[in-house]
Amino acid sequence: MIIVNSIEELFEQTSAFNGSVGFVPTMGALHEGHLSLIREARAKSDFVVVSIFVNPTQFLEGEDLDAYPRKEDADAKICELAGVDVIFMPNAEMMYEEDELSIMAPAIRGFVLEGSKRPGHFDGMLQVVMKLLNLIAYNKPTAFRAYFGKKDAQQLALITQMVKNYFINVEIVPCDIVRDADGLALSSRNVYLSKEERVRALTLSRSLKKATELVMRKQFEVVMIKEAMAEVLKEVDVQYIALVNRQFQAIDEVEIGNTIILVAAGVGSTRLIDNLWI
Ligand code: PAF
Repeated sequence: MIIVNSIEELFEQTSAFNGSVGFVPTMGALHEGHLSLIREARAKSDFVVVSIFVNPTQFLEGEDLDAYPRKEDADAKICELAGVDVIFMPNAEMMYEEDELSIMAPAIRGFVLEGSKRPGHFDGMLQVVMKLLNLIAYNKPTAFRAYFGKKDAQQLALITQMVKNYFINVEIVPCDIVRDADGLALSSRNVYLSKEERVRALTLSRSLKKATELVMRKQFEVVMIKEAMAEVLKEVDVQYIALVNRQFQAIDEVEIGNTIILVAAGVGSTRLIDNLWI
């Protein structure tokens, strides 16, 4: 495995690739969730590239950019054991210049839910993902796939739309959410939770389980499902409970095979999201 810290070194590596490339973009602090993306990329590609870059443009004023967990040595070990070929670890200076072109998230899908709670977040996220995809594709791999988790469901939907709208030659591969044994969806931000907060954080996945139970009993009405979920979420600071179709449009009734149930909540000072695709 090779760690590269510059775009020139990255191109040197990727120009020697003669096969398919699987790419896993991350902000580091790798956990089992990232590992599942890397494993999938490893199984399906000749070469695997992981980027580790805490992208400043997707953090809002007052968010945890400076405190975001950075664990470069541990991340490198995890990648090495998982059979990654190249880790790309750029810095902000080489990724951005002063007066940049910007990409804006679409007006509707980009500004509901996460987009309304974190205005501007998706613009910055799409901007860096576009850059990263272009950098990895630069030497024209025979096949190019990029792996994203379903946990960031809206991010995944917007990246898929960007790839379509800008005709980017990459296949976006959605990967399932990975959970701890107690049900908590894995996130780099879980390290912020105290013991007591972690217990309360479990209500997010429990509320989704409650929603599944209702759907299994053929309760498809969104109002009823949201009400039952809110009951489970009483001990956290709920930011939204939402049921949307796979295009992120609001729905009144659950449609099996085309619904995502999402929840976002503050637990202490940590903001958590979780969702369920049904
Ligand atoms: O999901 C993330 O970790 C980030 O949003 C991503 C896709 C690596 C872009 O910075």
